[in-house]
Amino acid sequence: MPAHETSHKSILLKHPSGAEAEVRLFGATVTSWKVDNTERLFVSKDAILDGSKAIRGGIPVVFPIFGTDEKIKLPQHGFARNSDWEYVGLLTDNDEVSVRFSLKDNQLKQSQRSAWPHSFRLNYTVALTEKTLRTTLVVKNEDEDTFEFKTLLHTYFQISDISKVAVSGLSNLTYIDKVQNAAKVVEENQKVTIAGEVDRVYANVPEEVTIEEDGQAKYRIVKTGMKDTVVWNPWIDKAKGMGDFGDEEYHNMVCVEVGSVADWVKLGGGQTWTGGQVITAL
Ligand code: BG6
Repeated sequence: MPAHETSHKSILLKHPSGAEAEVRLFGATVTSWKVDNTERLFVSKDAILDGSKAIRGGIPVVFPIFGTDEKIKLPQHGFARNSDWEYVGLLTDNDEVSVRFSLKDNQLKQSQRSAWPHSFRLNYTVALTEKTLRTTLVVKNEDEDTFEFKTLLHTYFQISDISKVAVSGLSNLTYIDKVQNAAKVVEENQKVTIAGEVDRVYANVPEEVTIEEDGQAKYRIVKTGMKDTVVWNPWIDKAKGMGDFGDEEYHNMVCVEVGSVADWVKLGGGQTWTGGQVITAL
């Protein structure tokens, strides 16, 4: 079977090449992606998987806000990562094994619907080939009026040693440095390395970004429809402050997150918007 439901409310995708992925219905969070029998996504050993909190790792879907918002009273990063999605089914099982999930406003809690009172449907496709993982989000505005949202695919990559990681494709771009009180900075480095807490929103990023480790390209991320890229590593103090993240785990992860978060996406009534990424294990 190229895709089947497990006993713990997740869908397991299997590609004939041996590549595998697992997607939890909670948050439609991809919690595993294996290529050549090696796990490529980071999930904390302390991640909470009982549906009481967004999963610390994998690919949580951020929607309809990024961070918190003064006017929209939703928890940090919105409701998509904290909601039970519906499994729509298998789309294709030829070269690409692809499954779809959906979330509609009437599946939300009343408090969430009141905080963001719009009729919408999210369709989220997770697709696997031998070396790639594709995650594509389609937002449909089922209202008559325009609504606004921000969205992000909060991908936690598994790495061996953060001190050997470099991210390329971000040079000369302007970023908001959330560690330095949201100062706007121009990236002067050809490659971004991480030696402390990093929480940056790079705006208007070209479609391709590469994560290297020890001088070797490890992951290529190609985005479509999404404008921005967030780079995040909590480092020592923030790691200690998170109950669902091991104190030392910051060495083994980096988040490189494609999204449209610097500005609101405006979506007219009846319209759809599509954004996503294809990650290649190199
Ligand atoms: C990143 C944000 O996308 O997510 C950070 O830029 C935030 O500011 C991080 O700390 C993790 O957020 P959370 O809500 O999963 O702890």
